Amino acid sequence: MPYWRRASTLPGSLRRSIISVGNDPLYHRVRIAYYLHHSLCCIINVILILCPKIRFVNTQTATERQKMLKTAIMPLIAGVLSVYFLGNMLKYCYQPAKAYFGKGGIMAEEKRPGDSNRITREYIDSLLVEMRHLDAAMPSTAFPLFGETFSTPVMTAALSHLQRLHPDGMVELARGAVKAGAVLWTGMGDESELAAITATGAKTIKIIKPYADNEDIYRKIRHAEECGVIAVGIDVDHAFNRNGGYDIVHDRPMRPKSTAEIRDFAAATRLPFLIKGVLGVKDALKCVGAGVAGIVVSHHHGIMDFAVPPLMALPEIRKAVGGDYPLFVDCGLESGMDVFKALALGATACSVGRALMGPLGESGADGVAKAIANIAAGLVHTMAMTASPDLTHIDPSVIHRAQ
Ligand SMILES: Cc1cc2nc3c(=O)[nH]c(=O)nc-3n(C[C@H](O)[C@H](O)[C@H](O)COP(=O)(O)O)c2cc1C
Repeated sequence: MPYWRRASTLPGSLRRSIISVGNDPLYHRVRIAYYLHHSLCCIINVILILCPKIRFVNTQTATERQKMLKTAIMPLIAGVLSVYFLGNMLKYCYQPAKAYFGKGGIMAEEKRPGDSNRITREYIDSLLVEMRHLDAAMPSTAFPLFGETFSTPVMTAALSHLQRLHPDGMVELARGAVKAGAVLWTGMGDESELAAITATGAKTIKIIKPYADNEDIYRKIRHAEECGVIAVGIDVDHAFNRNGGYDIVHDRPMRPKSTAEIRDFAAATRLPFLIKGVLGVKDALKCVGAGVAGIVVSHHHGIMDFAVPPLMALPEIRKAVGGDYPLFVDCGLESGMDVFKALALGATACSVGRALMGPLGESGADGVAKAIANIAAGLVHTMAMTASPDLTHIDPSVIHRAQ
């Protein structure tokens, strides 16, 4: 089954993608409603006026038929108009839907055998959970991180470029995170955007791109500190493109970073410095050795084919870095059950990205807050049903791998 069809929000997200993906969602909404209304009116006109007359056409005299031909002009015009309005409506629906689900689109159904998103989804679904009821209690999901306490370990992923979903996408996502009492991660974006994000009161973690010019990175670290973020980091998995070259994002060239450079970045800030894009023990230990304060286990929604599913890599990484080290995870997490599995396998907390984009496009901050609350509630339910009293007492042995 395709990745996006498994999402519990499919009808909603399909609808939202059709109406929301544009620079101005409201404009598209009104436009589509206008065409839909007009074309439906025209079609109803055709049916009401033309069809009953056609039924009797053979029983009429020649003059009556001539008269009828004249009266058929109106429905004919209505018919032509309905085709015109319907055509326009489809045009306005098709472009945004293509941008969303089409080839290369964020929610595109990938059929390649190596599609890491599909492999990851299948891995998560292959994990089964042992129910435990004796000595169970209503669990606590209080989540302490870098001197703050949050109501849930469900966080946003480090997103960016959300203008297509909402004119003020990242700031609205931040407002949603505040409402949900969740940590807000943010990715690429200019300095004014980060200032607007933190002005919402969102406890923010800023992820900086691995710019070729390290001065850009140092400048962004300093700016993030000024904005009052709670941690800062780099997504080191974004250095190369799929065509055998270095990646270039918005005309800015990227480069891989050495362990020594990471050590220098970490030492240059008083904030916890994080690395996003670790999928194995080797890189994880290099990070720990370089003074990195936390790791995001992630393949960046399938930046490479056949990438190890983060939940598969987690237990070994946890074992290598030790019990208390902050280990975050993202990629394909959509529900409280998904988050529970990640926590049981060693994650400290989890980030949700694409599953929040539909609610953001549809209902802005409220949609984001509601989506996070739903996932958080699913997590509480699963913790209760496995007798897991709090986030530090989830027994990994409740997870079983389907054969
Ligand atoms: C629209 C979009 C923009 C993203 N921008 C960034 C970014 O700027 N920096 C970053 O580190 N990750 C970025 N990501 C990757 C996410 O942080 C995350 O790793 C990925 O989407 C996997 O999580 P998910 O499956 O829950 O979406 C972006 C993802 C999406 C969908």
